[in-house]
Formats: sequence, structure tokens, C-alpha cells
Amino acid sequence: MLEAGGISPLAGRRIVLGVSAGIAAYKAVEICRRMVDAGAFVSPVLTEDALRFVGAVTFSALASEPARTSLHEGGETIPHTRLGQRADLIVIAPATANILAKQAAGIADDLLTATLLATRAPVLVAPAMHTEMWEHPSVQENLATLRRRGVFVCEPESGRLAGGDEGEGRLADPSRIIAAAEEILSRGRDLSGLRIVVTAGGTREAIDPVRFIGNRSSGKMGHAIAQVASTRGAAVTLITTSSIPVGAGIEVVSVTTAEEMRLAVDERFSDASVVVMAAAVADFRPKVVASEKIKKHSGAPEIILEPTPDILSGLGQRKTHQILVGFAAETENLEEYARAKMEAKRVDIMVANDVSDPEAGFEVPTNRAILLDSMGSHTRTPLMSKMSLAEVILDRVAVRLGRANNRESQ
Ligand code: CTP
Repeated sequence: MLEAGGISPLAGRRIVLGVSAGIAAYKAVEICRRMVDAGAFVSPVLTEDALRFVGAVTFSALASEPARTSLHEGGETIPHTRLGQRADLIVIAPATANILAKQAAGIADDLLTATLLATRAPVLVAPAMHTEMWEHPSVQENLATLRRRGVFVCEPESGRLAGGDEGEGRLADPSRIIAAAEEILSRGRDLSGLRIVVTAGGTREAIDPVRFIGNRSSGKMGHAIAQVASTRGAAVTLITTSSIPVGAGIEVVSVTTAEEMRLAVDERFSDASVVVMAAAVADFRPKVVASEKIKKHSGAPEIILEPTPDILSGLGQRKTHQILVGFAAETENLEEYARAKMEAKRVDIMVANDVSDPEAGFEVPTNRAILLDSMGSHTRTPLMSKMSLAEVILDRVAVRLGRANNRESQ
């Protein structure tokens, strides 16, 4: 996991190493040492209870500055903002069920949790706990919340646990945690300086003040792309019909109709380097919108439809330097139809989805796709989370922009 030339992506980066209370806390000593050896500036932050398992002095001896536990020590008035604002990455290893719950809820009652709230840096958590706790729905729901906000999770392994038990929940091996940190930091750079516009969700076209024509798109895929692009350093505008929360730092423009979406995209097109049209834009809308609610006693209405603007085709006609990513939602002849759309709309990368697949299409958290590139490449992904597919799509964007060196060489 080294960049070309053998320099670790950790070199020269500021890392807050959070250590919470678990028997695996002793392994954080090894993680700290390896980060420092790789050239990182490491600030260890231990919770009060972690001190029952490891000594602060051990970390202080190895790290780049003394280990801290409290918001109120060492004469510094607001250590959490200094640590949070300056960090390039926060790694919590081990992360207990308790720290994950506090992080998900936004509780800031000690230095580590306050630092987590005071940062815009990427956060990597490496959970460690007993199997029963790991599998508990509250832990898994907290992790899902954190993942949705863009927190990276280095999954625990199966093996020997405290008290002689065996099972899933053992802290990931330090080499996996270091590799994950390196990957995040190299990604963090690969889209920086780019402006990326992402559309998401299904548009709603009004019939009357109460009813609309809509579709089943939830916005999950587009929001995942916006989140991942932001974490990888891009300046992101998310034009969406969905209210799924995204991380700070993403400009969110809420829209309802295809026409509103077109206006919002067009306004930002000339400054954008990449536009990802993940939205399911309605193809037709009622020609006339009733100003009052249509009453049942008037009989079944005849609704005459007219086409909406094809936003992506319009961008394809006008593009100069922009990379255009389109989605093809199909229920049959997936690749053939997607390729035809890619050519007709002058799209650079087309993500073809079989929306009749219950594990892939609308609403579900997973997806699998065929990625077609106008330069000729063709990739079929396995079933994966929408976050992971977002990474794969942005990897392809990075290749098209000549920014893939960091990742391709790993
Ligand atoms: N799209 C768009 N504006 C529209 C319709 C679609 O920008 N009015 C974009 C979508 O965001 C997507 C791509 O075009 O990125 C393909 O959308 P899709 O619904 O699969 O295809 P359509 O062009 O609508 O064709 P059809 O419905 O006949 O499959």
C-alpha cells in the first residue's frame, strides 16, 4: 500500500489516534508506532477508561506529541478544536460499542468525542467487542448511521476474544488498519480541486396540488456518490429530491421537478469538472397542472402528458471539458440499451443497472452494475453496498481525469 517511490500516504499527515476502552487497546500502541515510522504526525487521544488497559505514557513515548485524555489538561483551553481542525485523518482503534454510539448520537462528553464533532477530516473506526455486542442491532444501526455519513469502518475479525471467548469482534490486525488509513489518505487527495455536481432521487411532476407522477428512486446511490466524492476531496454540489442526510461540506440544492433540476444543473455546468446524473428524472409530466385538487365526483381525469427536458442529453450537446456520468435504469437488454444511451447522450461513463433485480435497483442499500466507458472499457461489478459502488464509479472518473496514479499503483 505504498505510493510510487515507496513513500507511505501517511507521511507528513496529521493523524489523531483515538483509543477507547477495550482489551485490544494494547494493539493501538503498535498502530501508533507504525504510523510514526511511516512519517505521520500522530496525536494520541485516549478515553478515561482506556487508561485502565494501557498507559498514556507508552503512547507519549512513541507518538509525535503527548497523549491526551481530558478537555481540561495541559493549559490548553480548546484542545478538541485544534486536534479536530488540523487532523488529516482520525483513526479510532479500538472503537468500543460505547464510542460508536456516542459518535452516532453526536455526544461530546470527553476529548475524543468532542474532537470527533470538531473535525471535517475523514474518520476511520476499527470496532472491537464481544460477538454478542457486535451483532446487536443497536451497534449495527449506529454503524449504518456512521457509514451513511461517510465514516470508514475497518471490520473486526473472527478469533480469540477477551475472557477466552471465540467469535467475530476481534480488532482488525494493525496491518489492515494501517492499510485502510493509507487508502483513505491517498483517496483524500485524488479528487481535490475538482467541482463535481451530482443529481439524486426521483423527480415529482405535479398533477394537482396533492398528486404527482413519480418513481421509486430513493436517492441512496446519488447521495453515496456525493458523500464519497466529498471525502475524496472534491467540492460537491448535490442536487436532490431526497432528504437523506449528507456530511457537512456538501452543498445541497433541494429540487422537486425535472425542470427545477435542469435549471440547477445548468447553472453550475460551466464550472463543473464532472456531472453525475444519478437522478431518475421523470420523462413525462402533465401538460396542464390543475390549480385545485381534482375531485373524485368529476370522474376519472384524462391526463395529457408532455416530455420533460432530457437534462443529460442537453449537457452532452454542450460539454467542453466536463466528464459526464449517466445511469441507465433498465429491466431488459441491459448492456445493449445502456450502450445506446451512452452514445446518444454523449456520456463518458455509463452505469447500467438492472432495476428489476431486487438486490440492485431502487430503494435497497446494495447495487451491482456494468460500467461502460466511452473509451471502450467495460467492468461488471459484484453485488456491493452503494457506498462501495460509488467508490468504483469515482475510481473510473479519476482514471478519465488522469488522477488514478495514487490508487492504481497500490
Ligand atoms: N436523464 C435526464 N433527463 C431525463 C431523463 C433521464 O437527464 N429527462 C438521465 C438520467 O439521470 C440518467 C440517464 O439520463 O443518467 C438515463 O436515464 P434513463 O431513465 O435510464 O433513460 P431515458 O433516457 O429516460 O430512457 P428510457 O426511459 O426510455 O429508458
